[in-house]
Amino acid sequence: MRSIPEMALGSTGKAIPLVGMGTAVYPFAPSETMIDCILTAIELGYRHFDSAALYQSEKPLGEAIKKAVELGLIKSRDELFITSKLWCSDAHHDRVLPALQNTLKNLQLDYLDLYLIHWPVSLKPGKYELPVNKDDLLPIDLGSVWKAMEDCQKLGLTKAIGVSNFSCKKLEELLQTASILPAVNQVGSERGLFIKVEMNPLWQQKRLREFCAEKGIHITAYSPLGAKGTLWGTDRVMECEVLKEIARETGKSIAQVCLRWVYEQGVSLLVKSFNKERIKQNLEIFDWELSAQDLEKIIQIPQFKGFPGVEFVCQTGPYKSLVDLWDGEI
Ligand code: A2P
Repeated sequence: MRSIPEMALGSTGKAIPLVGMGTAVYPFAPSETMIDCILTAIELGYRHFDSAALYQSEKPLGEAIKKAVELGLIKSRDELFITSKLWCSDAHHDRVLPALQNTLKNLQLDYLDLYLIHWPVSLKPGKYELPVNKDDLLPIDLGSVWKAMEDCQKLGLTKAIGVSNFSCKKLEELLQTASILPAVNQVGSERGLFIKVEMNPLWQQKRLREFCAEKGIHITAYSPLGAKGTLWGTDRVMECEVLKEIARETGKSIAQVCLRWVYEQGVSLLVKSFNKERIKQNLEIFDWELSAQDLEKIIQIPQFKGFPGVEFVCQTGPYKSLVDLWDGEI
């Protein structure tokens, strides 16, 4: 079993494993496949699992955790770092706590390690579907939704809270009203806020990384491989000639080059695979490094955002254009 590097976080009292497993797949994967792959991952050493109310992966993840304890792969759930997310149709002050309670019920857990606002947008309550119905889009009342997230943390239902798919500007807005700003920690100058964002060699997030480093916000990268083959993904990352060349020269796979690059940026990452060989391969990134020349070649790759979030843009909704959604940071 491989031991995965971790980063100590002041706010949670628990370290975050720097490589975790994503569970987003569309169409949704049959539960048995997902349970089986999560158990394999736990056996191989994965401890960080990312779920969301939207993904329909909470129940299988919960089943897999239960089985992993029964099988003795882990002593208790406390050895894991479990994240889930508040879907936009629950991004309303009075729906946050019930949504988290439902998530915990699905996962058969007493607490999450991290609960995130999935997107900076609300939808009319009641639906969990992709693509979203654009007529249901509503502006998010960030202050009151965040306050409800803070209450969840105070109740002990989640060790930490954060956001996903927020621009620097939206993070700034949040920091102005947030009351949970835990003490600065020597290790990572963590304020205890987390953000999950798309990040890979084709969408390097330089500006956001600088902003988060300055504010002490921990970044978790999703779609490190560009989420090839998904509704929201792009083939461009895995088909990138520069990455292919580096893979040839280093004797690694293109996926490993991507994952190693993200890891070397000092963030945690989530990679989704439901293939046992690839689940294993994706952990084999710790005993080698990219050369300075490789890093330079990657910096030069033209940038392309794989999942711009067009679903959340429409003339009658809160964001009229992608520029609005990302505050020009796209
Ligand atoms: P699969 O589940 O069949 O392995 P991301 O993590 O960027 O969202 O990318 C997920 C996509 O990349 C999935 O389609 C997954 O397919 C595929 N994938 C995961 N690991 C690898 C790998 N090592 N090599 C090639 N494709 C991979």
